[in-house]
Amino acid sequence: MITWLLTDGKNFMKPTRLKRGGDVLIIDDTPDNLEVLTEMMTKRGYQTRTCTTAQSGWDTAREALPDLILLDVGLPDVDGFTLCRRFKSDPLFADVPIIFISAFNDVENKVRGFKAGAVDYIPKPFHFNEVIARVQSQLALKNLRQQEQELAVLHERQRIARDLHDSVSQMLFSAGLMLDKLIAHGGHDPFTEQTLLRLLELGRSAAAEMRTILYELRPEALTNADLADLLANLADIVSARTQAVVETRLDSLTLPDDAQIAVYRIAQEAINNLIKHAQPSSVLIELVNAPDAVRLTIADDGVGFDPSHSGAGRFGLANMIERAERVGAALHIDSEPGQGTVVRLKLESIWEMA
Ligand SMILES: Nc1ncnc2c1ncn2[C@@H]1O[C@H](COP(=O)(O)OP(=O)(O)OP(=O)(O)O)[C@@H](O)[C@H]1O
Ligand SMILES: [Mg+2]
Repeated sequence: MITWLLTDGKNFMKPTRLKRGGDVLIIDDTPDNLEVLTEMMTKRGYQTRTCTTAQSGWDTAREALPDLILLDVGLPDVDGFTLCRRFKSDPLFADVPIIFISAFNDVENKVRGFKAGAVDYIPKPFHFNEVIARVQSQLALKNLRQQEQELAVLHERQRIARDLHDSVSQMLFSAGLMLDKLIAHGGHDPFTEQTLLRLLELGRSAAAEMRTILYELRPEALTNADLADLLANLADIVSARTQAVVETRLDSLTLPDDAQIAVYRIAQEAINNLIKHAQPSSVLIELVNAPDAVRLTIADDGVGFDPSHSGAGRFGLANMIERAERVGAALHIDSEPGQGTVVRLKLESIWEMA
């Protein structure tokens, strides 16, 4: 077999994944409070910025949006309630939770704090564990709200994708079938024949564009799924479109988005290629989730080809190489005319950490 090393995945920089608790802005005019809060929060993985006046707090928050604000009531320039109201009247800060930390512990002040738009009110002197627990719970709530909003956007995109698929894509498909029939029917003068062929080509391009748009609209269809399920679907397509006996051995796993999309797209191209070119009688699709690496193998016993031959217009193979390189995967294709084709992809285990 001729082995073609497409990319060995060695020139890949492992992406840095910063684990961070959140960016907390602390506005308090007592240096001791600032010091102790900053120290304890930093220890727990939070990034903190500190300010001692309402004005500097306002300016700092606007420089870079914090994830949460801890706010003292008694500030030297403007009181904390006024600053809180100012934050909450600006849409920029609509989703930034503000927690008061205050020595004014009577009910009236607490109510003022909530009315000003705060989500919580911690009495001074504070217990540090309480502050952390309340910060954590507010950040968790904020994340939940964000997820809900993202979900709403996602559903809308899914609806658009469904509508486009069920209307435009289906019509393009039907128009293509009719054109195919018309062309096969024959008996056209050369001009009509040429126009029909051009129409067919345009229709196919439009359908391809539409598929791309649909995937762009709902990438979650790829990233949320188990790779084993996605590959099982591809295996079904091989069964439907070829005479081959299809064997699958698929370990269940979901990779981080980039890697998941890369593996799926590479598998999709390899499978499209074997459907289009190989005429196989047997096909193996294997996904192994080993401790050191994730390995994908797509093998056919079809016509094979010479992978070192640099034919023009090999967009499929070129895309596979680019995708593998971008996620630091090693991609090999073993093939030889008459000997079938084996596509192997190896993804080091760094991707399993997410
Ligand atoms: N499994 C396979 N069996 C036989 N030949 C293959 C196989 N995979 C790829 N080839 C050969 O390699 C060539 C290049 O593949 P590539 O995917 O780059 O292009 P393509 O499939 O012809 O077109 P597209 O750009 O639409 O993918 C194919 O034209 C085919 O000759
Ligand atoms: Mg191809």
